[in-house]
Amino acid sequence: MLRFAAAAALLAGATAAWADTIEEKAVLCSVCHGANGLPDFPATPIIWGQNEGYLYLELRDFQKGARKDDRMTPIAQSLAKEDLLALAAYFSTKPWPKTGAPSASKADTAVAKTAINSVVCTSCHLEEFQGDSSVPRLADQVDRYLLKTMIDFRDHARANNPGMSDLMNTVTPEQLGAMANYLAGL
Ligand code: HEC
Ligand code: HEC
Repeated sequence: MLRFAAAAALLAGATAAWADTIEEKAVLCSVCHGANGLPDFPATPIIWGQNEGYLYLELRDFQKGARKDDRMTPIAQSLAKEDLLALAAYFSTKPWPKTGAPSASKADTAVAKTAINSVVCTSCHLEEFQGDSSVPRLADQVDRYLLKTMIDFRDHARANNPGMSDLMNTVTPEQLGAMANYLAGL
């Protein structure tokens, strides 16, 4: 965790100091989000191939403080709005890196589907959980990140979308765990 925080602090300075082009700035993101798109740290999301509008909104929310994270906040605040737009465009055109996560067990799938059908997650995240524009793709996202961020929504530690927080308060902890496994294995 220390290494993580130190990298963030270093990179926040570095992005401003010597990374001129978007490709150079994107190299710094790869320290955590992975040089081949597969994150190198636990509970860190895949951003390669994520929807462009969503990537921009998250970077903007980290910059404004609407979404908080010790690593992402200083990085987003070191960048200009044009950089956030350009980075969102850059990463959205990369191919989604397959995690190879196994499909959820039959038991987890059943528990997950009960919650997914009752909340109708697919009305926004769409069939196959690919999302669109400002709605994130969830399919094949990192298991531990999915679980962490759903818990953060539920507990309002992630408070940048009150609608998602309300929904996460309608499901049980068991359903949250099962949904993370199910979505990660799609
Ligand atoms: C020091 C590690 C680190 C670096 C460097 C880093 N990130 Fe992140 N990033 C994270 C972590 C950890 C999260 C998840 C935060 C949370 O749990 O809410 C995250 C979240 C994000 C998200 C939200 C994704 C989602 O699915 O909601 C975006 C977008 C993002 N980062 C983009 C970037 C960009 C662009 C850069 C480079 C300018 C970058 N990150 C550099 C660690 C890092
Ligand atoms: C009314 C539309 C809607 C419904 C229904 C919905 N979501 Fe979402 N969800 C969103 C939006 C919009 C976001 C992005 C919020 C933001 O701006 O940060 C999101 C974000 C998320 C994220 C964070 C993804 C990331 O990369 O950080 C997860 C996980 C998630 N939703 C899971 C679910 C699950 C599971 C369900 C059903 C139980 C569900 N959502 C139902 C609209 C919806």
